[in-house]
Amino acid sequence: MITLSVNGQSRQVDVDPDTPLLWVLREDLKLTGTKFGCGMALCGACTVLVDGKAVRACQTAVSAVEQRAVTTIEGVGTTRVGHVVQNAWSALDVPQCGYCQSGQIMSACELLARIAAPTDADIDMAMSGNLCRCGTYNQIRAAIKEAALALTGEVPR
Ligand code: FES
Ligand code: FES
Repeated sequence: MITLSVNGQSRQVDVDPDTPLLWVLREDLKLTGTKFGCGMALCGACTVLVDGKAVRACQTAVSAVEQRAVTTIEGVGTTRVGHVVQNAWSALDVPQCGYCQSGQIMSACELLARIAAPTDADIDMAMSGNLCRCGTYNQIRAAIKEAALALTGEVPR
């Protein structure tokens, strides 16, 4: 039995320790907001936060996150940064098909928790591992800047 902390709740799962975190979230815990894209840490669709750091759940063994705080798209809105980011995403109508957007939001939350007023270069670096087949990159950048403004009162450069 493996004990996880997911979105502030203690959860126990009876799985092989090598099982990818993504499978456990989706299949065992029914948290299906985190998406499967490539399964090879190449697309970012499965991004979640572990102790505040963006990780690819498809390539993270569940045993590696025992005793650590996992945050998924279902829980990130309860944090200040997550709430502001989700509001900005909604205000700017960022999603198209939506498939990549959970992962995009999680990476944006990590960025804004780390850098309050990110530059274009900061955004490009932080978001480069999150692909969007619908090409919403310009809206994502605008939403991150809107969120940064809401969080800091500063206009991002
Ligand atoms: S599904 Fe994990 S990075 Fe693509
Ligand atoms: S919104 Fe469709 S893949 Fe990004």
